[in-house]
Amino acid sequence: MSTIKDLNLAPSGERKIRWVEAHMPVLRDIGSDFAREKPFSGLKIALSVHLEAKTAYLCRVLEMGGAEMHVTGSNPLSTQDDVAAALAAKGMDVHAVYGCTDEEYQAHLRNVLSVGPNIIIDDGGDLVDLIHLLGGKCADLGEHLIGGCEETTTGIHRLRIMDRAGTLRFPMIMVNDADCKHLFDNRYGTGQSVWDGIMRTTNLVVAGKYVVVAGYGWGGKGVALRAKGLGAKVIVTEVDPIRALEAVMDGYEVMPMMDAAAIGDIFVSVTGCKDVITLEHCERMKDGAIVSNAGHFNVEIDMEALDRCADEIYEARHNIDAYRLPNGKTIYVIAQGRLVNLAAGDGHPAEIMDMSFAVQAMSAEYLVRTRGQLRPGVVSVPAEIDDNIARRKLKAMGVSIDSLSCSQKEYLNG
Ligand code: NAI
Repeated sequence: MSTIKDLNLAPSGERKIRWVEAHMPVLRDIGSDFAREKPFSGLKIALSVHLEAKTAYLCRVLEMGGAEMHVTGSNPLSTQDDVAAALAAKGMDVHAVYGCTDEEYQAHLRNVLSVGPNIIIDDGGDLVDLIHLLGGKCADLGEHLIGGCEETTTGIHRLRIMDRAGTLRFPMIMVNDADCKHLFDNRYGTGQSVWDGIMRTTNLVVAGKYVVVAGYGWGGKGVALRAKGLGAKVIVTEVDPIRALEAVMDGYEVMPMMDAAAIGDIFVSVTGCKDVITLEHCERMKDGAIVSNAGHFNVEIDMEALDRCADEIYEARHNIDAYRLPNGKTIYVIAQGRLVNLAAGDGHPAEIMDMSFAVQAMSAEYLVRTRGQLRPGVVSVPAEIDDNIARRKLKAMGVSIDSLSCSQKEYLNG
């Protein structure tokens, strides 16, 4: 039986799913192929991805392909209860509740694994981690498992560590590293949705403010680009000299966080690293500075130190906590330092997730097609999948491109 907040919320969730479906043409197209070919017939898929409408539509597309779906979220604060209810109302096995405790979240992960899934769809690596933790205690898991797909940078980072140590027991496809994923989702998706989350939560102006973006990877590039477009003065902090140089050449100021802390009005950390914004940084900040995180885990801002040291903590506005520090300044933290675009917004735009989830769906199908042929460890998304999705997306957008003539191909290939 599903674990959800309230089945009566289903109509509202259903409306949200219908809205995104209308804006996800590539996934719709893949859904039609799946409905015809039933690649997942007789297979169980356990999915742990931020449970909002786009994810729900991915679940339905996989179900159209014949999969028996077992679904949970990938962060207690990003689950939308009405969307979870909409899936459960149509008979899907769902275990996700907004704001659940860490213990409940772990129980939800265990629930979807308890069915002995054939395929894992993970976002951040929690399912895969748990499978390895359960290890021998859950023999069924290894036996049935064909492999899995990982959605995000942080999850892949965790998988690579396991792969290097030789402990990853099955193939995991690195969805994040596909061009059709990180070039669009991490950059344009994060860029837009982070500002949507911050603006709708604070209802404050961005223009004219100093915005500090920690990390100039794919996510940071998007967040900085959109901040600039909104009229902010953007400062980037980095630890990688190449990325720092890129930020300089893109026209941003680059400096250590300790210097940026004293200047910024709004901070966004998007590094995948921990302790990027520490108590010491917060103490240097201006009174009223706003701090947020867009990285996968809530480890980028040292929330533990803030909780411990603040003289007073109060809710300043829905999803914004005020921390009055011993030096008398107040710092505002959005969504408890959890990823701001999901915990204080609706996540990436549907048109962007259309591509990311198309990579997920086609990678899952690839796992079934190549069953028994892939080695345990991290596996790249085949170039044909990237190419196929980009072509479908361009077609849906009504954009045509040239193709190489035979003599051009000969010229290029030598
Ligand atoms: P990336 O690897 O492309 O970039 C991360 C950047 O942060 C690198 O340039 C690295 O040098 C820098 N960095 C690392 N530690 C730092 C530190 N202490 N201070 C300053 N810079 C530091 O990774 P990407 O794709 O940008 O992802 C970053 C995080 O965002 C990951 O946790 C990822 O899972 C998450 N993510 C979140 C999304 C969302 O919807 N909020 C969407 C996509 C990714």
